[in-house]
Amino acid sequence: MNIEQRIQNAMQRHFEEVTGDSTPPTLKAAMRHALFPGGARIRPQLYMAVAMVSAEDAPLITDAGAVALELMHSASLVHDDMPCFDDAQLRRGKTTVHVEFSEPVALLTGDALIVMAYQVLINQSTGKSISRKHANRLLEMMHVLSQGVGAPSGIVAGQAWECESKVDLWKYQRAKTGALFTAATCMGAIAAGANPAPWRELGESLGDAYQIADDIRDVIGHAELLGKPIGQDVEHGRPSAAQVLGLEGANKEFKRLIENAAKSVPQCHGRHILREMISKESERLVPQPEYQRYIEMTKLNPKGVGHLV
Ligand code: IPE
Ligand code: IPE
Ligand code: MG
Ligand code: MG
Repeated sequence: MNIEQRIQNAMQRHFEEVTGDSTPPTLKAAMRHALFPGGARIRPQLYMAVAMVSAEDAPLITDAGAVALELMHSASLVHDDMPCFDDAQLRRGKTTVHVEFSEPVALLTGDALIVMAYQVLINQSTGKSISRKHANRLLEMMHVLSQGVGAPSGIVAGQAWECESKVDLWKYQRAKTGALFTAATCMGAIAAGANPAPWRELGESLGDAYQIADDIRDVIGHAELLGKPIGQDVEHGRPSAAQVLGLEGANKEFKRLIENAAKSVPQCHGRHILREMISKESERLVPQPEYQRYIEMTKLNPKGVGHLV
């Protein structure tokens, strides 16, 4: 079974286990809408790759962490799309949860997914055959996940910087996006009983790169290909790397961070697999030939540029 399939199976299994038969049907349908078929699932993939190269010895614990990460991320997207934030109509190629269901249901869906992330980890830690050693890992994973999501420097803090008049772009981006990537690499090591510290830099570099890529795609991307609206940063007056560094500066920084991410993979048995994954992901995020074509077209026709990626 490949990583994608393993994540998908774990998501489905835990979704049914937590929601069961008595969740209000509209809430359950909205949660399902937010989770399936899902997006790139990059955070759980990164996490699982780290767990695997760290010689994972408790696959059910690894699975639970992957699901918890994707639940937190999906919750953040449901809330981010709501009218009080970005007011987006399209997410993962489908209508957003508040458009498909309603605003109250979207708010509750995000809440339910956040709580479900903890339910998944708690259910795993109270399982019949769980050892003290494994229960401790799950507790540590909850701790690291909370740092990636809450105050002072997780997703919630990142989104909250949008309500401040003075914002440090890098602090903002690291909180709203980078923190969950850092949680992913560190949790991957913890799930396998390894030391998370050497994996921190990889999560930080990839997280920074990922948000810069999102800012670049917000300028040069195509809504139908991305499955979400573009031009959002300018429309909502959000600080973005493309504005602060310019498109070419942002692309340069993106490439530097990807290189740094590849270098920071600790010495381990599957180092080359992780490095390949990073390189593939970087091509998916900002395909350089398309990016160059956009730059050339901007030079020829500064006002009439189309969207390419
Ligand atoms: C979108 O994340 C929000 C950002 C933090 C940039 P992804 O690009 O990982 O979204 P999905 O999960 O693939 O839809
Ligand atoms: C979303 O940030 C990051 C979250 C924490 C939800 P954006 O608003 O920039 O991401 P997209 O472009 O809507 O995915
Ligand atoms: Mg936003
Ligand atoms: Mg948004």
